[in-house]
Amino acid sequence: MTDIRRADVLDPEAPDTADPRIVVIDRDGEHHRLDWEPDQSLMEVLRDNGLPILASCGGTASCATCHVFLDPRVTAELGERCEDEQELLEETESFDTARSRLSCQVERSTALDGITVTLAPEE
Ligand code: FES
Repeated sequence: MTDIRRADVLDPEAPDTADPRIVVIDRDGEHHRLDWEPDQSLMEVLRDNGLPILASCGGTASCATCHVFLDPRVTAELGERCEDEQELLEETESFDTARSRLSCQVERSTALDGITVTLAPEE
């Protein structure tokens, strides 16, 4: 059974003593500092920490409920979206050419340590 942990909500007044893997901004604008474990996709990090993404297809790039926004420099680092990812994202109302990704298609790499991820609006 998977260990479900609630994401830590960051206190902007608290000293930042940790070394966050990533920061996630939820749909209420709250910031969550999350560890990104090896072998997890970005979607799994979000889902396993209780962030409100449905990921209803389980990560097969067929539902778009794991849509996130990343810094354009990060999306450039990730390279081209696959055809399925591109088509699904283009169907969403909040599609942003420079920033949209399906988090289930984003695998961990050292280039992504410390990134900020923003959850796309629910559709
Ligand atoms: S989880 Fe369904 S597209 Fe990512």
